[in-house]
Amino acid sequence: MWLAGRVWWCGVRERAASCALGLLASLIVPTCAFAVPGNIPSIFDPHSPPAYSIHTLSVLVLGITAAIFVIVAGLLTYSIVRFRARPGDEDREPPQVYGSNQIELAWTVVPTLIVFVLFLVTTRTLIAIENAVPPENALHVRVIGHQWWWEFRYPEQGVVTANELHVPLGRPTFLTLESADVVHSFWIPQLNGKTDVIPNRVNRMWFEPSVAGTYLGQCAEYCGTQHARMMLRVVAHDPAEFETWVAGQREPAAAVASATTGRDLFQSVACMNCHRIGGTVADGAFGPDLTHLMTRETIAAGAAPNTADALHAWITNPDTIKPGALMPAMKLADNDVKEIVAYLTTLK
Ligand code: CUA
Repeated sequence: MWLAGRVWWCGVRERAASCALGLLASLIVPTCAFAVPGNIPSIFDPHSPPAYSIHTLSVLVLGITAAIFVIVAGLLTYSIVRFRARPGDEDREPPQVYGSNQIELAWTVVPTLIVFVLFLVTTRTLIAIENAVPPENALHVRVIGHQWWWEFRYPEQGVVTANELHVPLGRPTFLTLESADVVHSFWIPQLNGKTDVIPNRVNRMWFEPSVAGTYLGQCAEYCGTQHARMMLRVVAHDPAEFETWVAGQREPAAAVASATTGRDLFQSVACMNCHRIGGTVADGAFGPDLTHLMTRETIAAGAAPNTADALHAWITNPDTIKPGALMPAMKLADNDVKEIVAYLTTLK
């Protein structure tokens, strides 16, 4: 299983080199036993207006720089081959050229023009992406970065969730980004560029997914031990489906009679100091809101699938999934952990 986890992790990086290194490292340090499918996609597969703009700009910049590379490398290769030393050349010196006005003018003006063009197109894209004004029908979400998870608050809908951001198709989502601790960076490559999430500051970004589905993202600013496992998902729904999701999230937690033991345990040990479960006395704000935990695909910000086994491992000792995670190992008896997991899995 740990090998499967490794292979998945390599997919996230999409780089053969780091994959090889990861596999090598996994031979020495066995890591997380839970694999979550999904790769962080490329910016070359955009699905939202700001991402389209960034894609167009990237292609243009790549085109210009590729042309420069081909011209410079071509001239260099030609000169090396054409003017290489030949037998009998020992005493001959090439023509010595000093201070050619034309050449000096050319290699000053041409690069200046290229840099100026790159500066203008980049600035135009930046302004177009950042100065968007939210239309009347925009969805507003407050994003709060934590070590190492994402909190999503929908002020107009009264919904709070974590790590998986649900949005409707057909209207833009405008985000305000805040941090509860250190600097993070919010990044969903297919929807928009990276936006830093800075303490004591509110940054903004927006996107509008073009097709329904799940878009993977990742914290893109080193923020501590588990920066790499600070992932996120954006789930884009048809409008009606989104309204159904909102209605479900607004409900208090389900009270299932068979899970009473687990619920009482949750409320009598320290869990409730950090986690909120709507409709119960658990009202902590330090960790993710668990009211509708089971509507999420993953736990621990995408580090493990949201299954009973992974929840059991997570509650027993979070370090086995995410070393350094701020949730402590509660040192509970295994049977108590089972009861709590049984309760948590009723939170649909
Ligand atoms: Cu949060 Cu890196």
